[in-house]
Amino acid sequence: MAISFKVNGKSTTVDVPADMPLLWVLRDVLDMKGTKFGCGIAQCGACTVHVNGVATKSCTRKASTVAGTEVSTIEGLSPDGTHALQRAWEELDVPQCGYCQAGQLMAAASLLAKTPNPTDVDIDAAMNGNICRCATYLRIRQAIHRAAAMPAAVGTRSGESNQ
Ligand code: FES
Ligand code: FES
Repeated sequence: MAISFKVNGKSTTVDVPADMPLLWVLRDVLDMKGTKFGCGIAQCGACTVHVNGVATKSCTRKASTVAGTEVSTIEGLSPDGTHALQRAWEELDVPQCGYCQAGQLMAAASLLAKTPNPTDVDIDAAMNGNICRCATYLRIRQAIHRAAAMPAAVGTRSGESNQ
């Protein structure tokens, strides 16, 4: 079926089976490889994107359900890698192998949009669906605090408020 939606601010129409996972649409149809496949069953968070600003596991989100929505991926988090979270990630050298990090960043961006100054408890609650096999959790938490303390800079297409 033809499904129209926006990806990182650009209108797109894809012709795919209604039940194709959004992750496949992004990676295989639209050739956007930043969003990763981990488990395929909504358990690891590697595939996290935003749908209308809400952190969403794209591996279990059916393509038909994103018709008319605004999807944001890691490629759209900022035009040039200067989102506060990306800068904080870099400053604190958060990634290890890096595989989970696109999903971590998208989950963190969704958190900061709703809760600009999150506590450790807020962070742990928001991030607990995102697994990191390299156990970068402490640096992720520090980097979210670091980003929250940065002055607002670059907005994203999901409308996050503290970028
Ligand atoms: S690949 Fe989607 S949650 Fe693991
Ligand atoms: S950095 Fe390796 S899985 Fe998270």
